[in-house]
Amino acid sequence: MTAEAITKTKKIVSRWENKPENVIEMMHDVQNEFNYLPKELIKIISEESNVPVAQIYNIATFYKKFSLTPKGKHKICVCMGTPCHALGAPKVLSALERELKIKCGGTTEDMQFSLDISGCVGTCGLAPVVIIEDDLYGPVGVQGVQKLIKKYKDK
Ligand code: FES
Repeated sequence: MTAEAITKTKKIVSRWENKPENVIEMMHDVQNEFNYLPKELIKIISEESNVPVAQIYNIATFYKKFSLTPKGKHKICVCMGTPCHALGAPKVLSALERELKIKCGGTTEDMQFSLDISGCVGTCGLAPVVIIEDDLYGPVGVQGVQKLIKKYKDK
């Protein structure tokens, strides 16, 4: 981990006044900065906030929004709730895997995209639904996948 990353992390922790009760916010900001929570930086958060490393790992594994492995710049999530599944989400997921040349749960080599699935996101009327970052798309067909990726590539 670079000295710059360590300094940035210390700044984030101090922005939250080094208070243990703000540890989730600190983790959130560190993840936003680096796209995941590197273990070296978890150690820094722990030292600077006095929250045990094990507790930070517990939080990181409990909340889906946190990742302990590097994630791509653009996070793609395919809804696999029952309606989306029934209306073709598995085919959309396969098309995304082919297009990105990764498996679900993976990240592209250039760190541009990560691909995951989720439970129902509450917009079943648009099934099958794909979420890229904060943008929701639906209904998404296999044919629309390439165009969708293109929209975010190198953005
Ligand atoms: S099942 Fe996909 S939005 Fe509800």
